[in-house]
Amino acid sequence: PVVSMRQLLDHAAENGYGIPAFNVNNLEQVQAVMTAAAEVGAPVILQASAGARKYAGEPFIKHLIQAATESWPQIPLVMHQDHGQNPDICRGAMDLGFSSVMMDGSLQADGKTIASYDYNVDVTRTVVDMAHARGITVEGELGCLGSLETMKGDKEDGHGTDATMTMDQLLTDPEQAADFVKRTQLDALAIAIGTSHGAYKFTRKPTGDILAIGRIKEIHRRIPNTHLVMHGSSSVPQELLAIIRQFGGDMKETYGVPVEEIQEAIKHGVRKINIDTDIRLAMTGAIRKYLFENPDKFDPRDYLKPAREAAKQICRQRYMEFGCEGQA
Ligand code: G3H
Ligand code: 13P
Ligand code: NA
Ligand code: ZN
Repeated sequence: PVVSMRQLLDHAAENGYGIPAFNVNNLEQVQAVMTAAAEVGAPVILQASAGARKYAGEPFIKHLIQAATESWPQIPLVMHQDHGQNPDICRGAMDLGFSSVMMDGSLQADGKTIASYDYNVDVTRTVVDMAHARGITVEGELGCLGSLETMKGDKEDGHGTDATMTMDQLLTDPEQAADFVKRTQLDALAIAIGTSHGAYKFTRKPTGDILAIGRIKEIHRRIPNTHLVMHGSSSVPQELLAIIRQFGGDMKETYGVPVEEIQEAIKHGVRKINIDTDIRLAMTGAIRKYLFENPDKFDPRDYLKPAREAAKQICRQRYMEFGCEGQA
């Protein structure tokens, strides 16, 4: 059944594990996540970005997720709006049947300019009032995702900013986080600790100076009852990069967030871990390999099957690594 995210995150906190939140855009990705969860008995957070809603169309996103609950009725499932840019987008998601929304007020409504703290408090509080009246969970964000190597913000497709930032902007402040939680009454807080979206997060395997797991501990100490969320948390496995390169892809040297760092973060209040890029890499590698090895094939089912299987493997691995096995 579709459940609120609060319910799953509370359970994760009580039992000391973290839940990967996987971005989905199409049938095969939804099936991959659900099959992995069913195999290991994990609870599920499926999240759709504005880009996903645009790619598939709102009815398809809504019904793909509803089809997932129909096909796996025993699995508790959260339908989450990822990076809502303004209260209207969040209201739209609630009307579509989402059980959780993210109001990302770290950026202004254009999704490109860094917002003031007061703006962030204001829009997040507005969404909390709307959502809580309907039993829907709210995730907010404080601090700007971006790189501590380049001191630049994280620019996604049509979203985010690559403006030069200060340390203050790139690392969430624990005192301000406490004030933010108090004033907004949100359920989960996305924090900035040096991660960024996409495949190119770090130019080397990250150490504490560019991936601030220590900051999570300080935030958790200050707001122990708030569920923390890590964005940009794909691990960018070197094996997946190698497959893509081996079969004609062109990807530069890059590093993601090591699983052991996420496991450490889970010990300090992180309950939701956002993963999109790893699924993209897994599917792309599998499709490239399949088409390279089978140049005569042209039925999309032939190459989407190994892609779906590769996505399932990565999801299953993360469920196990984050402690989700048997928690559903
Ligand atoms: O927020 C970033 C997620 O990876 C979603 O990406 O906006 O390209 O769908 P997207
Ligand atoms: P990745 O790009 O690291 O997978 O992050 C996804 C994310 O944070 C979605 O909100
Ligand atoms: Na952001
Ligand atoms: Zn994100």
